[in-house]
Amino acid sequence: MQLEATRRTSRARVLCISPVCAAPRWDLRSLFRAGHPHFGQTAGGEHDHMQAGSEGRSVSTNTLKRLRGLLSRALGRGREAALWQQMQKLHPWSYTPTHGIAWGRDGTSFPVVIDRARGCRIWDLRGKEYIDYTMGWGTTVLGYCHSEVQKAVRSAMGSAPLLAYPRPIQAEVQSLLERDFPGITGVAFGKNGSDVCTLAARLCRGYTGRKTILYCGYHGWGDFWAEQHGFSRSSIPERHPALIHRFRFNDTGGFMALFEQHRSDLAGVMLEPSGPWGGNDIGCEPDADQGFLETLRLATRSVGALLVFDEIITGYRYLEGSVQRARGVTPDLTCLGKAIASGMPLSALLARGDIMQVAFGKAHYGPTFQAEAWSFAAAKATIEVFHREPVALHVWKQGEALRQGIDEALRVAGIPGHVKGPPFRMSICFGEEQGEIRELQRTLLQQEILRLGVSIYNNGVMLPSYAHDDTTLERTLEVFRAALIIVGRATRDGSLAAKICIPLLREM
Ligand SMILES: Cc1ncc(COP(=O)(O)O)c(C=O)c1O
Repeated sequence: MQLEATRRTSRARVLCISPVCAAPRWDLRSLFRAGHPHFGQTAGGEHDHMQAGSEGRSVSTNTLKRLRGLLSRALGRGREAALWQQMQKLHPWSYTPTHGIAWGRDGTSFPVVIDRARGCRIWDLRGKEYIDYTMGWGTTVLGYCHSEVQKAVRSAMGSAPLLAYPRPIQAEVQSLLERDFPGITGVAFGKNGSDVCTLAARLCRGYTGRKTILYCGYHGWGDFWAEQHGFSRSSIPERHPALIHRFRFNDTGGFMALFEQHRSDLAGVMLEPSGPWGGNDIGCEPDADQGFLETLRLATRSVGALLVFDEIITGYRYLEGSVQRARGVTPDLTCLGKAIASGMPLSALLARGDIMQVAFGKAHYGPTFQAEAWSFAAAKATIEVFHREPVALHVWKQGEALRQGIDEALRVAGIPGHVKGPPFRMSICFGEEQGEIRELQRTLLQQEILRLGVSIYNNGVMLPSYAHDDTTLERTLEVFRAALIIVGRATRDGSLAAKICIPLLREM
């Protein structure tokens, strides 16, 4: 029984840390296992214990707090650097939002290994706090560790996460999705966005008996999409002719030209329906033109191809909960992921009409973990908050204020540039002609805001959330104002390179 209590509280404690955070984390328990010198003590009491490795040592909450303090001091630069090196050794492409930045030449550390997260804040191993705009790769709009989501997952943990049979919670989530995406006739679940984007591509091909897909945006790492990177960047054998082609966002003429070229073999058109990332030079694209979305709808329908909205970012983040709902353009297939379960791994493919009946059997789709219930519990709690509270509206408002504030800071600092993209996902873009100067500016900006405690993607992307309140926003803008003054001065006096002490962030 004691063991069971220990297990229960151990699970609860792990929940104090958000399930997804966009930087690597260090689980305290690993330190017990590693026999860290500060963790040799034990404490009595059945409650509030954390299991301490295979020997079953445990410590109380107070002891843990003391140890956490001790830990942040004891883990000096050497320890943090050693951890980073260890992780890099085992996983050399350990991609984080601040990828490439571990340590400055002057020894300053940047958020490399994160200890905990709450709301819109993350803390590194030494206890330094950052206001975060990466939000676990956008997997939470509500903020890390939202209390209702935590509670729902905790109570779901009374049962096994996965059975080979469906459970009522799955039906409940299906009903919530039906309510938010009226007219859907089929739902399939997955764990990552790539699962459901890949399934969507297969359904397009299976349903139409054709092969070509036109796309716009990022659709994960599945072969159907990644093959456009070519063999050298994806290791996917080249295909001639290629089966997937890109069109530019909001470029109705460009789309129609590509469409005409491929209409006889067109299986589907897949796009992020608002503000996809267009590369470093473009940043986040603007919101969609209504006419562009409508053209895509009409064109696909005219040749019997399927229209897929990849709403993995926009789902429950865009006004009214989705682009399709707000803009009144209804796709045949919808991909959801990221924020639907507030950091727990869940994605969903929603289909209309007879697509599932006709094509699902030809799609060979069957991930083992698709019916995992703890993520459904998180999704139910998350979606219920979306229904009750003005989440998307808040995100939109804060994003807009952030854009205006940073644009103004750029202007005051005398730096050409803008924040681009709709308010739910924006990117800071420098307007200098020369790419090398832009790289230096971006790197110096990243260095300075990290120093001052703000974390964004290293390509300038920022995702505001429901947890970013006015005070947080004001602090963020103070940081940007200070950092951009430094960048502006350094640009004018030619000292950008001299001021940078982190590796250069290259434009991709
Ligand atoms: C629009 C979009 N589609 C698909 C994906 C792939 O999702 P995942 O990384 O969960 O596989 C992403 C991930 O960033 C995304 O932003």
